[in-house]
Amino acid sequence: MVHVMDPAAKQFWAAWGEVHTLDGLIDISAKTEEEWKKVEDGAATVIVAAGVLQRPEYTREPAGKWRGYAKAVADLAKTGMERAEAQDLTAMQTLGEELDKRCEACHEAFIPKT
Ligand code: HEC
Repeated sequence: MVHVMDPAAKQFWAAWGEVHTLDGLIDISAKTEEEWKKVEDGAATVIVAAGVLQRPEYTREPAGKWRGYAKAVADLAKTGMERAEAQDLTAMQTLGEELDKRCEACHEAFIPKT
């Protein structure tokens, strides 16, 4: 999970970003072909990782719920890949926020609170 899903999601989130500094807001969104290619690769890897989570050997109980969360991430990453190919920054901002929510939804449900 941490080794595949997290770095892949970070590449996905790299599509859009801004950083607040003392000099104001700095736009760190993807700009070059190369940067956009990384976003696409990240989305592709999120799709693969979410697919792996849906395999029987990785599924946790209740399985239907688990697979639902994993599929929600995979579906969103598919849209993300298309939008990254189109270098659609506005869509990637929204999709990035939604991805975060969908990752967290599964964590909320399946990671025991300490
Ligand atoms: C289908 C459920 C599911 C989905 C979807 C999911 N995760 Fe997780 N994730 C888990 C579980 C369960 C753990 C706790 C570790 C374990 O039990 O293997 C975890 C742990 C993690 C951790 C380790 C830190 C922690 O909170 O324990 C990171 C980082 C992480 N996930 C990132 C992501 C990201 C990023 C996404 C979305 C792109 C995502 N996960 C989507 C189930 C999921």
